[in-house]
Amino acid sequence: MYKNLVDLFKENERKGAVGAFNVHCFEMLPSMIKGAEELNVPVILQTSLGTAEYIGFEPLIAAVKALAETSSVSVALHMDHCKDIEALKKAINCGYSSVMYDGSSLPLEENIKNTKEVVEYAHAHGVSVEGEVGSIGGAEEGVVVAKDAAMYTRPEDALRFASETGVDALAVSIGTTHGQYKSKAKINYELLAELKVKLGDTGLVLHGGTGVSDEDMRRCVREGMKKINVGTELNKSYIEVVSRTFTAEDVTPLTSLRKLLGPANDRIKEIVKEKASLFKL
Ligand code: 13P
Repeated sequence: MYKNLVDLFKENERKGAVGAFNVHCFEMLPSMIKGAEELNVPVILQTSLGTAEYIGFEPLIAAVKALAETSSVSVALHMDHCKDIEALKKAINCGYSSVMYDGSSLPLEENIKNTKEVVEYAHAHGVSVEGEVGSIGGAEEGVVVAKDAAMYTRPEDALRFASETGVDALAVSIGTTHGQYKSKAKINYELLAELKVKLGDTGLVLHGGTGVSDEDMRRCVREGMKKINVGTELNKSYIEVVSRTFTAEDVTPLTSLRKLLGPANDRIKEIVKEKASLFKL
């Protein structure tokens, strides 16, 4: 079934966190859903605006809906980190079941105002919304920039943001970073505990899943994370596998691309299964 985040959180209540996996190309879609089916867990497929434009909004959404309707598990399609309100409205109109407005680089007032506008539009269309307070940031080439305490989510800001915007989910900065694949994040569990108490029903979201150890993943789920994002690990692994298959000695122009892409798609399914099994309580 094709659902939004609120439905998925409800369905997964007391069962752990729902995995949100970044789709980088069309090929990854069926493998991600197969992985979730083999574990019997709901799944969130998420794209950047860039991926949506690369594949095309309509074909992407039609494919995800078709796969979801025949799947044994619940599937959401979520727009990840989007700063463009008009693009989010387009995603909602075209059929995404969930969107993230990322106003984390703006002053809090402005982030609240813009997020509220997205929430009003999205909720009127049955679409869920994730917001962000604090700055999760990114890592260049796997070299992680030292974490500035000022980038962490301040619990009082998170509480005000959640109550004034009415978001369904909130990305919080507790020590993870996007694109960290050479080292592991140091998570601030005291902050997570405080955010959990303050945020109540708003689903907490952990970004930067690639740089989180298995042990930390399990602990974050036990301590209340409801959605966990994994992106870089999928992209990195896809590149590793196709680099091997495309350069094998027996490859000729007559070799079917299916044979070369199949192993990478299988690896995507395995990563979804490995990660989603850590997210189960
Ligand atoms: P990673 O690429 O570090 O796994 O993070 C993904 C993410 O948080 C997408 O929003």
